[in-house]
Amino acid sequence: MTPQQQALAIIRNEHRTLAAVVSALEHVATDMAIGKLSPDYKLLWSIIYYIEEFPERLHHPKEDGVLFPRLRNHGIDETLDDLGRQHVSSRPHLDVLKNTLGHMEADIPGAVAEFAKKVSTYAGFHWAHMNLEEGIVLPKAIEVFSPEDWAEVAANFAENTDPLQTGNTHDSEWFRQFYRRLVMLVPEPWGVGERH
Ligand SMILES: [Fe+2]
Ligand SMILES: [Fe+2]
Repeated sequence: MTPQQQALAIIRNEHRTLAAVVSALEHVATDMAIGKLSPDYKLLWSIIYYIEEFPERLHHPKEDGVLFPRLRNHGIDETLDDLGRQHVSSRPHLDVLKNTLGHMEADIPGAVAEFAKKVSTYAGFHWAHMNLEEGIVLPKAIEVFSPEDWAEVAANFAENTDPLQTGNTHDSEWFRQFYRRLVMLVPEPWGVGERH
């Protein structure tokens, strides 16, 4: 595999796992809002923990640090600015979800519906974000990066990869269990569950 192929595979896989996790969250939140599912707080907090630990702490900073700066002055600066701002606003979005989850645990009226609404906003925000990266940033990188750029991007992204990524085996039992729960919830092709 060339460094270009390796870098692209890691980035796309990290997007795919984040998309799967957000999709699982949306699925669960919707079912809770219509009373089809009672809240599984362990699962909900695990999903939030995962998003904070991997996409937030590792994926976005790698994009900001090694991917975006190399694409400056190639006609997509505005998109890069937008994406950088979205990385910054992603964490407050998560804080809102955590607050609402706390309200749910306290049985505050309307909190479950509010949570589903916030999750849907959060999911929309992520789909738009990833679409911009896959539709504009990665094609531009393919167009302008030198082999040295790809080597550096690949080396950087290969560090601390997402434990949920395809082919990664994680030695933590917690992650193995989390992964098993998720694949039951998320529809094909990522998971084995069925979307209702
Ligand atoms: Fe991003
Ligand atoms: Fe990304």
